[in-house]
Amino acid sequence: MTGIPMIDLFAGCGGMTQGFVEEGFDPLLAVEWDRAAAATYAANFGEDHVIAGDIADVPTKEIPRARVIIGGPPCQGFSNLGLKDITDPRNQLWREYLRFVSAANPEVFVIENVDRFSKSPEFQMLLSEQDHGTLKDYDLTHAVLNAADYGVAQRRKRTIVIGSRIGRIEMPAPTHAQRPAEGSALKPWRTLRDVIGHLPAKPASTELPTGADRKRDFNGETMPGPFTELDLHIKRNPRDESLERYSFVPPGGGRFDLPYKLQSRCWQDKPTGTTDVMGRGRWDAPSVTIRTEFYKPEKGQYLHPQWEPAPVQNHGYEGAVKGDPDRSVDRVITHYEASLIQDFPKDFKWVGTKIQIARQIGNAVPSGLARAIARQIRPFLDGRVPPA
Ligand SMILES: C[S@@+](CC[C@H](N)C(=O)[O-])C[C@H]1O[C@@H](n2cnc3c(N)ncnc32)[C@H](O)[C@@H]1O
Repeated sequence: MTGIPMIDLFAGCGGMTQGFVEEGFDPLLAVEWDRAAAATYAANFGEDHVIAGDIADVPTKEIPRARVIIGGPPCQGFSNLGLKDITDPRNQLWREYLRFVSAANPEVFVIENVDRFSKSPEFQMLLSEQDHGTLKDYDLTHAVLNAADYGVAQRRKRTIVIGSRIGRIEMPAPTHAQRPAEGSALKPWRTLRDVIGHLPAKPASTELPTGADRKRDFNGETMPGPFTELDLHIKRNPRDESLERYSFVPPGGGRFDLPYKLQSRCWQDKPTGTTDVMGRGRWDAPSVTIRTEFYKPEKGQYLHPQWEPAPVQNHGYEGAVKGDPDRSVDRVITHYEASLIQDFPKDFKWVGTKIQIARQIGNAVPSGLARAIARQIRPFLDGRVPPA
């Protein structure tokens, strides 16, 4: 091992690990109970250190010492009940997390969670552990960071908590901005054009490739994969009615651009809100947050950004503007495009079914955001920043 030894808890397919590995960290243990996600992780970072199971089942004596722990438990809830009962099952995963911190005794840990995390009882629990519990030796800093501010072509806001017992570590400074001020060293946000503009508009297939070389044994189970690059550039087979709908949505638009008659009953009944539904991205802006069901246009602004209005509007829907079929791409983004928007390297290897891989992509921390955090904590671990 040459890098800085780290543990990734709730590792998923390894989006966060990817960013840390690129900055010279070396994973010596990863825990993830979704078997397909763990298999993807293993295909990219090695199988020898992956525990594909429930974190609660990892015996404490098997937890190695590590200099860094990354990854945070999924947040269970945002009720106002507070954190009165430590035996509440919602707290179970956080107790597991603290068990790992106690056993591995890392110098630094990094938690990623939803943007509202600081309003959650789980966050209160962290603070109380810092006051007089397992985390009493750690300085905690936290903030909501937007991946777009760190060179990722996606607006994705996440709470990051950095715990350090080798000196307080502030959040990394943004490297990008929506509109950098004149003379600023910040670069403009990266855009959809930057990351998916080069890809074929018309994917060849609706399915992941099959064949003997596309089956992988992981922990005694055979899974589809590995898949990489254009293997994942797969289209869907929308109904004619859906295609007709897509054609009326301009870049940045959504369900409100559809002629009333083409709107589904529930949209007709809900004239406001859920503006992203059936939305289309913009070439010159970052994507919206990639979620686990990005392949469903009704889930967000996931239509391909290419769209030009038809020169003649003779569709019979007054007031609506239809796209030119020859200059528009009426489909959702592909798995490959979503993986690039999430900042995975193009040769990242994926294991699982289409739905499993989409979940892995949507759940991940974009590697660019992880890299920025890794780069921020690295000098502390190298002893280049004296403890305060
Ligand atoms: C937000 S995702 C993590 C994403 C990951 N950090 C990345 O960048 O790719 C949270 C993960 O926690 C896993 N998970 C939830 N409960 C778990 C448990 N009890 N034991 C192990 N993994 C668990 C989920 O399967 C999911 O993949």
